[in-house]
Amino acid sequence: MTHPGDLSGKIAVVTGAAGAIGSATSLMLLSRGASVVAVDRPGADFSELHGAAGAGASLHATHADASQEADVAAYVAEAVKVFGRIDVFFNNAGVEGVVAPIPDYPLAAFEQVLQVNVVGVFLGLKHVIPAMVKGGGGSIVNMSSVAGLIGSPGLSAYVASKHAVIGLTRTAAIECGPQNIRVNCVNPGPIESRMMRSIEAGAAPASPQVVHDQFAQRIPLGRYGRCEEVASMVAFLAGDEARYLTGGVFVIDGGMTTS
Ligand SMILES: NC(=O)c1ccc[n+]([C@@H]2O[C@H](COP(=O)([O-])OP(=O)(O)OC[C@H]3O[C@@H](n4cnc5c(N)ncnc54)[C@H](O)[C@@H]3O)[C@@H](O)[C@H]2O)c1
Repeated sequence: MTHPGDLSGKIAVVTGAAGAIGSATSLMLLSRGASVVAVDRPGADFSELHGAAGAGASLHATHADASQEADVAAYVAEAVKVFGRIDVFFNNAGVEGVVAPIPDYPLAAFEQVLQVNVVGVFLGLKHVIPAMVKGGGGSIVNMSSVAGLIGSPGLSAYVASKHAVIGLTRTAAIECGPQNIRVNCVNPGPIESRMMRSIEAGAAPASPQVVHDQFAQRIPLGRYGRCEEVASMVAFLAGDEARYLTGGVFVIDGGMTTS
């Protein structure tokens, strides 16, 4: 009988793995026995992840632009070449864009957010699903957000993109169920991270802490979440204890969206 949470023998691919949530999740998957292919954009620095994982970790890092099809095909092929198959896919890479009301939101910035957060997630699904089918099935976790459930002033592109991820998740879950592939998404509220510092500063350059405190006041548990708390949810969804979960929208927000 396997230990609860045990991911021994599983091969996981994590995009955005040099970032806050991606690196915390990569480390958690490794700690539970999985092998991890860490993917992040060209130029991203994996040294912190390598350092935290330690020598001898079953970790392979590679650079790829998750929003470009040739790069996605390449990281999927590389993962299969290095570890033989893909059992778990955390489709996590994302960008926040700028903070501006819709009339002032630059089209190029809007398109860039959709290119990474929607096209990138779509391309990940498109290329990982066939690899998972060859391996007999697996678990995919797409990264959405509470911004996939509610509006947020100044964040039109981000909100639109994260709503789209829920639609992609539900559609992929229906398509892939018969192939023994589960597809869920996670929807974190504000997490203590670079991305939230960027959004706070974008909303109020002179007083980002005020924005932080306003967000925190909307959260019944009274604080932002931590990367490890999101990682726990992803690790659970990745594993066999979640074998009957698919098409789900897993909110992890300290209660923020309950009112
Ligand atoms: N931080 C939060 O509060 C929060 C809340 C809800 C959802 N999310 C989502 O979680 C995910 C991770 O966010 P984070 O907080 O760790 O941010 P982060 O900026 O620390 O990490 C995102 C990572 O994605 C990478 N990335 C961006 N574009 C890429 C591309 N085209 N190809 C490959 N990699 C690319 C970045 O280099 C970065 O390492 C994002 O999808 C984000 O929208 C974050």
